[in-house]
This record gives sequence, structure tokens and C-alpha cells, in this order.
Amino acid sequence: IRVGVVFGGKSGEHEVSIESAKSVMEALDRTKYDVVPIAIDKHGRWHSGDNAVRFLDGGWATLAAPRSGEALLTGDGMANDAAGTEAQEAGTGAGAQDTGTTAALHDGGEQINSSQALQPVGGSSVLPGHVAESIDVLFPVLHGSYGEDGTVQGMFELLDIPYVGAGVAASAVGMDKILMKRVFAAVGLPQVNYVYCTRTEWEKQPDLVISRVEEALSYPCFVKPANLGSSVGISKAKSREELSQAIVLAARYDRKVIIEEGANVREVEVAVLGNDEPKASVAGEVVPSNEFYDYRAKYLDGESSLLIPAPVSGEVMDEIRRLAVLAYQAVDCSGLARVDFFVEKGTDRVLVNEINTMPGFTRFSMYPKLWEATGLSYRQLIDALLSLAID
Ligand code: ADP
Ligand code: DAL
Ligand code: MG
Repeated sequence: IRVGVVFGGKSGEHEVSIESAKSVMEALDRTKYDVVPIAIDKHGRWHSGDNAVRFLDGGWATLAAPRSGEALLTGDGMANDAAGTEAQEAGTGAGAQDTGTTAALHDGGEQINSSQALQPVGGSSVLPGHVAESIDVLFPVLHGSYGEDGTVQGMFELLDIPYVGAGVAASAVGMDKILMKRVFAAVGLPQVNYVYCTRTEWEKQPDLVISRVEEALSYPCFVKPANLGSSVGISKAKSREELSQAIVLAARYDRKVIIEEGANVREVEVAVLGNDEPKASVAGEVVPSNEFYDYRAKYLDGESSLLIPAPVSGEVMDEIRRLAVLAYQAVDCSGLARVDFFVEKGTDRVLVNEINTMPGFTRFSMYPKLWEATGLSYRQLIDALLSLAID
């Protein structure tokens, strides 16, 4: 079976995708599968063969030294989508919340030139359809926009090639935090209170947006671009001033911004696997190393910990697993997803935070770890995903 592993991509999670893909490719059983690496660079161009393999060097190594984000973020033309992509590409440094983090991210900026991985090599990029020829199944190990949001899935549908993971609609709904919340609400899933605004509303009537937020929510609140992942562009705002700054930042990444009531919570996650009969793993808890689980805590400082199984009561564990399957089915997911919850400190009230239809997939990531703890090894998990795709 020829498996096309697609990785990289145009989103701010390009590097995370590379790390996930490296783990997947290492684990694919070569006696059963021919592995065909397919890289998408940060400009969205596709590469195959040796040109694709070259991109595997562009993972964590470049995260330590992202290109300076601010320069691009403050550039002209942020209002159009292409510029939005540039902002995401600038990604990691720009997403940092506090000055300490920003400084740390920019440390060592001289050492590695991450843009090396971006240089187009003459004639190396290929048409997506051409790359995918003669492939039996595609595994898009892509996170974020243009990978986890239904766009690439739509192309695979058009090419008529089976692929791992959620389809077009589930991917798109899962990626958009506002649509996702509406769908979750429709099936009665408990969530934090939120309001949202468009970039246009913010630019035209910021006072109105602020008063809408302050009427509906209390500080602290979390401000997020509606369509992103890995905490890029997210801030915790503790005052009106911080709220404004946070909205300005989030609006650079996306034309919609969501503002949520900040809950005092533990963060518990469940892995779900399956098509029409999805199963939930045991739940695990994330203990972030920072004030919240921001980009740095997720990937850079290595100090956040995963507690598997999550140290919660049997009742809370059962409830979370039940709600995870409900959330999965609510967006009509297939293949896999990680459903993330908040468990309110003190009350143990369970709230759904989000669904990730292509969760981090390195060997050390929560999703495979949860399945390992539930009795499915990393390799078995990949086999199961490929079977579900070909099903
Ligand atoms: P992403 O899709 O980028 O992972 P999340 O919505 O999961 O975005 O938010 C990232 C992190 O921010 C969460 O893991 C959590 O630490 C914190 N966070 C987000 N929203 C809230 C909230 N409403 N209350 C408390 N913490 C939050
Ligand atoms: N968006 C990252 C990869 C995750 O949810 O794990
Ligand atoms: Mg999250």
C-alpha cells in the first residue's frame, strides 16, 4: 500500500506538523507500506521525492529561532487573506504573549536561518494532483489552516483518493471556534460563555465591541483568532486595556475574533478514534508550565507535563469520555480527533473547550499517549487510522 504522508503546510503550525510527520513516517511498518513523503512549504507549494525529505529538517530546530514575527505582522495589507497567511507564517514569535516569552523566542535568532527551508529550489515544486498520483491513501499530518480546516480534504475528495482523518465539513467546523461552539451548543454540550466580533466590527466600532464583551463576560478573558491552533495569537486579558491589545493581536491572524470567559480550570483531553462507532480513550491531564497552555508551554520549554490517566474521579472520567464522543459526533468527525475539556477547579464542572481533528501526533503527543494508555501502541494506532481511511 502506497501511503502519501503530507506535512508542513502554510499554517503557523508548520513546524509542529513536521515533527508529527517524522514520528508517523518512522512508525509506518515498511513491510506493509511504501511511504511517500509529500511536503508543503510555507508558501503552499508542494514538493515530492528528495525535495520533500529535505523539509523534514525544518521542525523544532527552527522553532528556537523563528523569523522575527513583528516585522511581518505590522506590515501592510493585513486585511487581506494572503497577508493573514504571512502573519501566521511569521507565527511563533508573534504569537508569544508576554515580553519574557517574546524575548526567549527571539534568543538565538542568529543561529538558524529558518527561511532556508523556504527557499524555492528551481523546479522542485509540483502540482498537488501530480504528487498524489499512484498513491493508495493519503495521511495529511497537517495542523491548522489549509491542512486541518477542510481545504486539503476537499482536494483529496476531488482527486478521489482516500485519506486519514476528518472530512471536509468536520474539519472546517472543528477549525472555526465560533462555528464549533454553535454546533456543540446545538447538542447541549456545556461550554464557557463567549462573544465574538469580526475584524471589521473591531475597526469600525471598538467601543461597542468592548462593551459587548464587558456586558457578557468578566475578566480575565481569553481572546483568540477564530481559526488557529497551538495557541498562536491567543492572549489572556485581565483589563480593558489588555482586552483591546489582545483583540488587535488576534485580528491580525483572522477576520473573526472570539472572546471567552476565563475559567479557573484543569485541562483534560480525550482521544477519539473511529468512523461511525467512535471510541474514547482514557482522559489525560495537561499541566501547563505557563499561566496558560500557550505556544511556549506546548512546545518550547519542555516543562509542561501530561498526567495519564487524568487524576479525576471515576464520575468525571466517565462524563468526559461520554462528552468527547458526543462532541465528535456533533461535528460529524471521522478517523480521529482529540477533544479538550476544562474541569472547573472546586466544582469539577466539565466544559468542552475544543475539538482538534488533526491533533499533535509526535510519539510524545497527548493523542498517541492516550491510546497507548488505553492499550493501542503508536504503530497499531497508525494501522487503525489507515484502515479507517480505506474503509
Ligand atoms: P488552540 O486551538 O490554539 O489550542 P485553545 O482554545 O485550546 O486554543 O486555547 C489554548 C489554551 O489557552 C488552552 O489550552 C488553555 O490553557 C487556555 N484557555 C483558552 N481558553 C480558555 C478559557 N476560556 N479559560 C481558561 N483557559 C483558557
Ligand atoms: N493544534 C495542535 C497540533 C494540537 O491540537 O495538538
Ligand atoms: Mg487547544
